[in-house]
Amino acid sequence: MEKIRYAVVGLHHGLEHVNVIPRNSQRQLVAVCDQDRARLEGALKTIKENLNLKYPVKDFLSYEQLLDWNEFDAVVIAVPPHLHAQLAVKAIEAGKHVLLEKPLTCDFAQASQIRQALQKASNLVFQVGYEVRSSQLVSKTLQLIQQGEIGQVVFVWWHMFLKNEGKQLPYWQKERRYGGGKLFDCLCHYMDILSLFAGAVFDRVSAFGTEVGQTGLNPDRIPRVATVIFEYASGAKGNVSLSEVTPSPENSLFGVVGTDGIIYGNPWRPEGAGSLDAYTRGCLYREQISISGSLASRGHLGFAEQHDAFQQAILKGEPVPCSFEDAFEVLLMTRAVDRSLATGTTVSRQEMLEEALGR
Ligand SMILES: NC(=O)c1ccc[n+]([C@@H]2O[C@H](COP(=O)([O-])OP(=O)(O)OC[C@H]3O[C@@H](n4cnc5c(N)ncnc54)[C@H](O)[C@@H]3O)[C@@H](O)[C@H]2O)c1
Repeated sequence: MEKIRYAVVGLHHGLEHVNVIPRNSQRQLVAVCDQDRARLEGALKTIKENLNLKYPVKDFLSYEQLLDWNEFDAVVIAVPPHLHAQLAVKAIEAGKHVLLEKPLTCDFAQASQIRQALQKASNLVFQVGYEVRSSQLVSKTLQLIQQGEIGQVVFVWWHMFLKNEGKQLPYWQKERRYGGGKLFDCLCHYMDILSLFAGAVFDRVSAFGTEVGQTGLNPDRIPRVATVIFEYASGAKGNVSLSEVTPSPENSLFGVVGTDGIIYGNPWRPEGAGSLDAYTRGCLYREQISISGSLASRGHLGFAEQHDAFQQAILKGEPVPCSFEDAFEVLLMTRAVDRSLATGTTVSRQEMLEEALGR
């Protein structure tokens, strides 16, 4: 195969994919699909006005009709999380390479449907859109850690601040069974990254989350202020926190503490691509690292790079940056966080694994 023919399904966040796919000459955007006519027409307008493609792009209101048409090799699925399994299974059964937006699914039963479909498939690339993994910022941080520049990682953190009041949220961000709010929908990226920085899976987790000024359990509401404490299998500790009620000049700040140094950073400055301060080798050295703005992907770190990786996986058989198992590990984390919020207990990875296996 010399060129990969892509279809994109779900044209809100999916529009980001629409914009990135044709940027490489080995990728062709051949179809778009959304059950919402206004979204579909909006996407066609964007394609016509901005992309200057020399070939036609088919449009579909129905995913099933797109699959029946069949004249594409890969599909990007960007529909609400509770529909991920349903659409991904159909694509896998139709023999398509799949780039599925994060999160993998909302629950273990849905994840198991995808796992079973993948087990029956052969020669298919399946990648999950935890694109921050593919960013230059994360690669640089991992490189410093893996070279031993800060010693053994003992503590990692990622704190996110935004003000979401008055914003109209899609239905699936208001209910946990459909996907949940920022704690699940956004911080899942950073739970994933912190585990990479810690170099280990989580062992147990305690989560606290409520409305401002409230205390107690959070069994069914979406927390807008939350903090989550992880203990990793390496013994390292981690903390992910969220405030959705805070006007803040920064969206996120993160850091990694080792026995021999510390790295901390801002993922969006400068120019939406990120910067690091690294104090290494006993803090005797300091390096300030700025990632080039040309590598920024419209506010989504690693977004363009994840497409390059998906393409290389299809054309060259290279490993994907986020596999089913990588994304399943994040699902274990977010399910554990949810259970801890509801029960007020510390929840272990083992407990979640047993639930996933139906024990
Ligand atoms: N990786 C990231 O950084 C990132 C950022 C934003 C959103 N996302 C993910 O992308 C997905 C979509 O998010 P969104 O904000 O665009 O959601 P959204 O609800 O705004 O849009 C989803 C679109 O999918 C369409 N759709 C739903 N079911 C469909 C079907 N069966 N066939 C065709 N179209 C269908 C809807 O009509 C809608 O236009 C979610 O899984 C979300 O978590 C990822």
